[in-house]
Amino acid sequence: MASIVEEILEEKQKQNAVILAHLYVDGEVQDIADFCGDSYYLSQMAAKTDASTIIFCGVEFMAESAKILNPEKLVLMPERTADCPMAHMATPDQVKEYRERYDDLAVVCYINSTTEIKAVSDVCVTSSNAKTVISNIPNKHILFIPDQNLGGFLAPMFPEKQFHFVDGYCPTHNFMELSEVQELKHLHPDAKVACHPECAEPIRALSDYCGSTTGILKYASATDAKEFIILTEIGVAHRLRLDNEGKTFYFTKTRPVCPNMKKVTLEKVLRVLKDHKDPIEVDPDIAERAKGCLIKMHQWGG
Ligand code: 13P
Ligand code: SF4
Repeated sequence: MASIVEEILEEKQKQNAVILAHLYVDGEVQDIADFCGDSYYLSQMAAKTDASTIIFCGVEFMAESAKILNPEKLVLMPERTADCPMAHMATPDQVKEYRERYDDLAVVCYINSTTEIKAVSDVCVTSSNAKTVISNIPNKHILFIPDQNLGGFLAPMFPEKQFHFVDGYCPTHNFMELSEVQELKHLHPDAKVACHPECAEPIRALSDYCGSTTGILKYASATDAKEFIILTEIGVAHRLRLDNEGKTFYFTKTRPVCPNMKKVTLEKVLRVLKDHKDPIEVDPDIAERAKGCLIKMHQWGG
């Protein structure tokens, strides 16, 4: 009898489907993906693919972005309820209010946002291209939504600009316990500390490196140290360990888990390949407006 992995690969081929997986999903799901990476990489792959069906192993805003870039394709999620709570932490009304207050406002939205927010923003960013994208913006006032932690990480890089934030954050990164990180540092004094910019400021301040998921992977591979304290979602452990034999990676005692990413399983990938249930649909008018902001990100993001 064929294994579930064999069944997925066979079904995928039959349907001319491509499987995209974020590095926060379980390792066994990452392993069956055609492309596995951070949000920016996956958005690039979604923009480029000529497959007729995209299976997005991640959360809703990622699959919606893929659909916005490929309105003619079938975009499916193995688990339709996998959503990012941060994506809903900014509203179009807040954007409207800020636009009324500042004449020269540029609205920069993190890709972790709803399609409605992208539709009222000027440009989209991910954690791996935000600095490059923002350097292309001439405006003095920047409303950066929804993640105030990523925004707080970027703002000091642009002292000539004035940043404005809303109260948005990623629960998985924002609530990492400083005391648990300090304890890890005490236990492993030679370890290098790498964090994601979605972490709160006190955690970023004690890190040797702060960058996107891909940035953390590159930092771990390129750095000579043998031990690393990794302050991001536990799913990256899979790739870190595969790529770095002989290096040790520590995570906080309270495991940094994104419950939504963990809803994706091999069984659900196979099921959605077969039943095509609940495809991603986006309102064409809103999607058209949101598309501009994603395309600008790809043009400016490098
Ligand atoms: P990146 O994939 O851009 O590092 O973002 C992390 C994240 O939280 C995705 O939801
Ligand atoms: Fe959203 Fe955080 Fe999960 Fe990423 S890790 S999907 S930002 S809740």
